[in-house]
Amino acid sequence: METATPTVPLPLVSLPRAVPEMPNRPPQETIPQTRGERELILRQVKDYVAEAENELTPPLVLDELRQRAEALIARHGIDSKYVDYVGIVLSNEVWREQLSAVPYDRRLLLMPKCLRVEDRCPAPFDEFGLLCKQCGLCSIQDLQEEAERLGYAVLVAEGSALVMALIQTGKIEAIVGVSCISVLERAFPYMESAAIPGVAIPLLQDDCKDTAVDVEWVWDFIHTTSDDRTRRLDLDALRKDVESWFEPATLDALFGGPAASETETLARAELTRAGKRWRPFLTVCVHQALQDDPHAAVPDALRQVAVAVECFHKASLIHDDIEDGDTLRYGEPTLHATHGVPAAINVGDLLIGEGYRLLAESGFPPDVRAAMTAIAARGHRTLCLGQGEELLWARSPKPLGSRKVLEIFRQKTAPAFGVALELGAAAARAEPEVFETLRKYSDALGIAYQIRDDLDDFAPSADAPDDIAALRPSLPLAVGYEQAKTEPELRPILARAWRRERVNGSSSPERLRALLDQFDSVERSRRMMEGYKEEAIRSLPGLTNPSLKGLLRRVIGKIFSVEIQGWCSEFEARNAAGGQSVAEASR
Ligand code: IPE
Ligand code: MG
Repeated sequence: METATPTVPLPLVSLPRAVPEMPNRPPQETIPQTRGERELILRQVKDYVAEAENELTPPLVLDELRQRAEALIARHGIDSKYVDYVGIVLSNEVWREQLSAVPYDRRLLLMPKCLRVEDRCPAPFDEFGLLCKQCGLCSIQDLQEEAERLGYAVLVAEGSALVMALIQTGKIEAIVGVSCISVLERAFPYMESAAIPGVAIPLLQDDCKDTAVDVEWVWDFIHTTSDDRTRRLDLDALRKDVESWFEPATLDALFGGPAASETETLARAELTRAGKRWRPFLTVCVHQALQDDPHAAVPDALRQVAVAVECFHKASLIHDDIEDGDTLRYGEPTLHATHGVPAAINVGDLLIGEGYRLLAESGFPPDVRAAMTAIAARGHRTLCLGQGEELLWARSPKPLGSRKVLEIFRQKTAPAFGVALELGAAAARAEPEVFETLRKYSDALGIAYQIRDDLDDFAPSADAPDDIAALRPSLPLAVGYEQAKTEPELRPILARAWRRERVNGSSSPERLRALLDQFDSVERSRRMMEGYKEEAIRSLPGLTNPSLKGLLRRVIGKIFSVEIQGWCSEFEARNAAGGQSVAEASR
């Protein structure tokens, strides 16, 4: 029976528990709930493991783990309620190296079934656990498919006996497990004594209900392999490094001296303004992943290329703000708002010139620089064609379908990512197949990125001018319009919104939002965004370089750092009964 306590709990096995129903349960206090907090702790733990590498041989016994977790907490002022969590992260990092050395087809991925959407999960159970029907409602499918593709054995189960049997066959040499923190604590002694590499990703909640897991973290461990030489590349540190190149003094040195005119000063000020620096970061990531030693220092020539990428990007934003009549960006007045349209156009042009100059003057060999110029020029051209579609549409706006909107996104947003990625590859003299993959990857990434930007504008807290009010094609509006095709009374309201006619109350923003809600447009758009993120990931198997492949996968997690949730609406104790009835029904 699934609710019975197994006599031999094994490493990372999710044990069934009976939990009282808590309709308004509090958040799980002992696990940091934001990704930022979790990443900070992870970084601190990684630094600690790197420092104490020689002393840390897995498995660490529980006492030692706890002592070290306490020391880490004291050192970094981490809240002491996270001590167990820090212990788990530490244990994982101590095992990481050993896990990497185990071939994928000798690893087990173990997930708890409380990740599923219990009310709607069509999956039956058999003696090995849940048989995922790949309905896509929860994160189990993605994780299972990817792990199986790599060669893992995958179990969505609570059964310790089964895991024990698998270990005894000698076929399983490492375990990646997802489980709640209390189960992990109970399982730890067994994990320690089994001494096979085991990493555990704690569920973000501990009550078998509405559980979620940091999918990117699981993904990272699933793909951890010693073939991927970038696996220890600290992406956050790399990002900080890139950020530092945009400090005024560093920029001046890179441009060959301080700004000599007000126009130059304005251009450099645009570069130092807020920004996420994703594009130069991507350039550096691709280049480093393609090096024999990805941890080698970033060459000066590459810095110039990365800054060039940001010059192109910032130029496009200055021009875009003019074209769209946006007077605010990053919560500050845009350049054309403070200095007038003509001067702002000119600063944008200067930045484009500076970008090409940096490429041309970077220290790469002539053929590499020629290839880079061609990449930048092609990207620039596509971006302008995409902007052109949108701007000419805006002269007499009319309803657009989602396909058309997505095509505009592909043209206007993807090229900046594509150029960034391809320049990194060109700098590393990558093979033609790499460029082909990068183009597919950046198309999907760019579209997903622009959808997210659209969705951010729809968030109730958004202070940016939203796309309904602005003259921009918006995906939720396109989706709403398509969904309303059988609603002759409502569709004209959406058509008016597309045409930006808002003369009467029926097209008020509130009414429009209500209509879009009615058609689930935002949620549908969000799902499309997830689809494009997946498409970006699906473009990667063609890559033969495991470092680049692993890195590009991780980068998606960085850029879209959100948790994918899985839900259980009932307690774990009821899973068995519910599962059986579903299983029976499906027979
Ligand atoms: C803005 O890009 C334009 C879009 C494609 C949404 P970002 O939001 O990445 O701009 P920065 O780099 O942070 O300035
Ligand atoms: Mg625009």
